[in-house]
Amino acid sequence: MPQTSFQTLLTAWIALAILLLPVQLKATAPYGRHTSPRWGPLMDNRLGWIIMELVSPLMLLYFFLNGPNEKTAPLCFLAGLWGLHYLNRSLIFPLRTRTRGKQIPVVVVLSAVFFNTFNGWSNGYYLGALAPPFSGGWFRQPHVLAGLALFLSGAAINIWADEQLLRLRKAGETGYKIPQGGLFRRISCPNHLGEIVEWAGFALMAWNLAALGFAVWTAANLIPRAMSHHRWYRQHFQEYPPERKALIPFLL
Ligand SMILES: NC(=O)c1ccc[n+]([C@@H]2O[C@H](COP(=O)([O-])OP(=O)(O)OC[C@H]3O[C@@H](n4cnc5c(N)ncnc54)[C@H](OP(=O)(O)O)[C@@H]3O)[C@@H](O)[C@H]2O)c1
Repeated sequence: MPQTSFQTLLTAWIALAILLLPVQLKATAPYGRHTSPRWGPLMDNRLGWIIMELVSPLMLLYFFLNGPNEKTAPLCFLAGLWGLHYLNRSLIFPLRTRTRGKQIPVVVVLSAVFFNTFNGWSNGYYLGALAPPFSGGWFRQPHVLAGLALFLSGAAINIWADEQLLRLRKAGETGYKIPQGGLFRRISCPNHLGEIVEWAGFALMAWNLAALGFAVWTAANLIPRAMSHHRWYRQHFQEYPPERKALIPFLL
């Protein structure tokens, strides 16, 4: 695909995320605590997560490795960060969830497969076929250092927060408790905040429309989800800390 067609497609993809944001803010995505049988057939939650998330690294690695670009250290580094994130998201995280017996709508899994296929393909295709080699001091450039710092701190917050949430349940439990400590003192969803920061950092490092597209879509998915979770906590726990915000300490 020529560079110009790729850029047009990615610009449309980013515009779609922004256009759909009001819809996402109104309609709560029906998985996890918001799962509803009104969304058609359901399937095992853990299997659904593995299927829908594994697509992303497979697509990225396939198009990266089979693209004509020389596999320079910076390009391999970016593909490696994607792969590491998805090793956690597609295997470690779902296998550690305490969601025995819980289900997820098939339509959510299918739409996530589409979303992850597009993002895995666009980022893999860019790195494998369209990107410049990023050689000659790329690792020392300010936007790379700043982006890497954001990526690593976002990933650390995301993994830490997911871990705290997974630990709230003892073996066999499937209910919800009020998370406490660390960033949870300030916001309901540090895992979502961490993920948004992480992919903003990746986009800053990789500096292309495919990476920006994934960062924008991540924010467009997770800002509404954090706000739905926050409303849900307030409705279900009378003692929910009143000073706690949804996603951004003191602000949102
Ligand atoms: N890049 C993107 O666009 C994107 C989109 C979606 C998700 N993600 C990432 O995927 C991960 C999971 O997302 P998510 O929205 O499903 O996270 P979540 O709703 O916070 O749930 C995370 C896990 O913790 C459990 N849990 C959450 N709150 C709990 C509580 N108060 N008490 C007990 N258990 C609790 C959940 O169980 P239940 O499943 O039973 O609720 C689930 O197993 C996050 O790291 C998120 O950032 C990324």
